[in-house]
Amino acid sequence: MLAVERLSHWFVNGGEETPVLHNIHFTVEKGEIIALLGSSGSGKSTLLNLMAGLMKPSKGSILINGHPIEKMTENQLAEFRRTQIGFIFQAYELIPHLTVRENVELPLVFQGIKAKLRKEKALFLLAKVGIGEKSELFPSQLSGGQQQRVSIARSLITEPAIVFADEPTGNLDTKTEKEIIDLIIELNSTLSITFVIVTHELEVAKRTRRVIQLRDGFLVEDASWAGEPE
Ligand SMILES: Nc1ncnc2c1ncn2[C@@H]1O[C@H](COP(=O)(O)OP(=O)(O)O)[C@@H](O)[C@H]1O
Ligand SMILES: [Mg+2]
Repeated sequence: MLAVERLSHWFVNGGEETPVLHNIHFTVEKGEIIALLGSSGSGKSTLLNLMAGLMKPSKGSILINGHPIEKMTENQLAEFRRTQIGFIFQAYELIPHLTVRENVELPLVFQGIKAKLRKEKALFLLAKVGIGEKSELFPSQLSGGQQQRVSIARSLITEPAIVFADEPTGNLDTKTEKEIIDLIIELNSTLSITFVIVTHELEVAKRTRRVIQLRDGFLVEDASWAGEPE
């Protein structure tokens, strides 16, 4: 489903090269849930942005369902991101003047899907993430954990091949963090959605069956557990 092949990345600013990722290599199978663990500055967000096709790697390749995304044109990439990739952000990134339901529907508005079908799908997903009764409220009327549930519903509405979550619980207290990770794990097992969760917290990483660890831009560990995760 996702293959990162011998990927290296460096930023160039004013002729100065900053190496960030070094020869990263791993694959993610359909239906897997993995944690990408590393301390701040280790290159997690850069790797996530590369996997989501937001920028092109300096070296190496990223394949999603066999398609090397660095070879796509801008138009192909935009279409690919719109249909194949879901994103969950640390700060939710909801639109304040749209209702919860309208926020969830938004990716389908861009695809030209009819209002009735959009609404049906949004309400279904809002119920799935446990806030069905909040659909006509505005984001500011919800707690942080509830807003992250909205953002999770929004990430799923296009039925993406893979969902990337960048520090999804970074703004939440410990109890809410656990509830959100529980929800992501449940969505992974009941809907077979493939998730990559970026985190700097070992507590979060330990909840998934597989942890890929980055240190200073190097992949230093790729560990799986056969039994129940903690
Ligand atoms: N646009 C950029 N130009 C130069 N350096 C960058 C840029 N974006 C990120 N970096 C550097 O790349 C390293 C990894 O950053 P990042 O991927 O955001 O790490 P993480 O998400 O693990 O905290 C950091 O040293 C950061 O300063
Ligand atoms: Mg980051």
